[in-house]
Amino acid sequence: MKEQLIKIKEQATGEISSIRSLDELENFRIQYLGKKGHVTSALKKLGELSLEERPAIGQLANSVKAEISALLEEARAKLISGDIKKEYIDVTLQGREPVRGHLHPIDIVNREICDIFVKMGYRIVQGPNVELDYYNFEALNFPKDHPARDMQDTFYVSEGVVLRTHTSPMQVRVMEKQQPPVSIIAPGKVYRSDSDVSHTPMFHQVEGLLVDKGVTFGDLKGTLTSFVHQMFGTGTALRFRPSFFPFTEPSAEVDIQCVICKGRGCRTCGNSGWLEILGSGMVDPAVYGFVNYDPEVYSGFAFGLGIERITMLKYGIDDIQLYFRNDMRFLRQF
Ligand code: PHE
Repeated sequence: MKEQLIKIKEQATGEISSIRSLDELENFRIQYLGKKGHVTSALKKLGELSLEERPAIGQLANSVKAEISALLEEARAKLISGDIKKEYIDVTLQGREPVRGHLHPIDIVNREICDIFVKMGYRIVQGPNVELDYYNFEALNFPKDHPARDMQDTFYVSEGVVLRTHTSPMQVRVMEKQQPPVSIIAPGKVYRSDSDVSHTPMFHQVEGLLVDKGVTFGDLKGTLTSFVHQMFGTGTALRFRPSFFPFTEPSAEVDIQCVICKGRGCRTCGNSGWLEILGSGMVDPAVYGFVNYDPEVYSGFAFGLGIERITMLKYGIDDIQLYFRNDMRFLRQF
């Protein structure tokens, strides 16, 4: 009888590992622990044993019963948790759509600006953000004591090396490599030590330069008027206001009629009805001296526009800091 009980236990231990479902497990339970099961039948036979044998065998029988019960509960727990895992994947549920990124508003408008000039025949060039003082100032005819060189506006990297404060150094870099005709635009980041509601220490400009024989201020006006009409609509009024830059003569800043109030006067345009969008002018002959162009033969114009400013006007954004705060509620709108 002792051998029989041990055999039952070994058999149960072997079988339990091949059970794959709760139905199979129930069959196992009936087979071993049910009313007519192996263990129950063995216990019933205890009465046939002698009084001396009974206690030891009885004890063994009970421990076999307990061990098989434990195996059974363990297997049941495993099967149930497996079932829960299986049910977790509900193939009928609608899938979650991955979040798709898109271009930053500054990039959208940058590309739009570049497209307009590329269609007019301009070539896109790019250059270093860490720039030599020579290209950023000196070859652009900034006198040594010009206030724009002041530490307050310019980030100095080291002696004679700055973070470019505008994209105009690209004018010099292009002209020193190539004789006219030249027509390029140079988009990119620029840096100034300045930060408030209308300034960030890094912002974006697009430089433009066209040099050839017989280029006049009329060409500058025509080109920039066409640009403004393509960018803001043909009905947009613009004006050329006399200004000064060391590297252009004469110089003009271009204002467009305020897109918010249509020229009536509001907070955005400081009640003037006009908004400045770019600086421009005829290339100063002094600059030609640095790049070996003959000012008696060639003339040209240059312009530099601020992308943040144009984007603000196009989309009615009133705080420049929003561009760089990475607030998804703002960025998702574009
Ligand atoms: N570089 C000037 C600025 O940053 C803009 C400019 C570019 C003016 C080209 C004239 C010609 O303000």
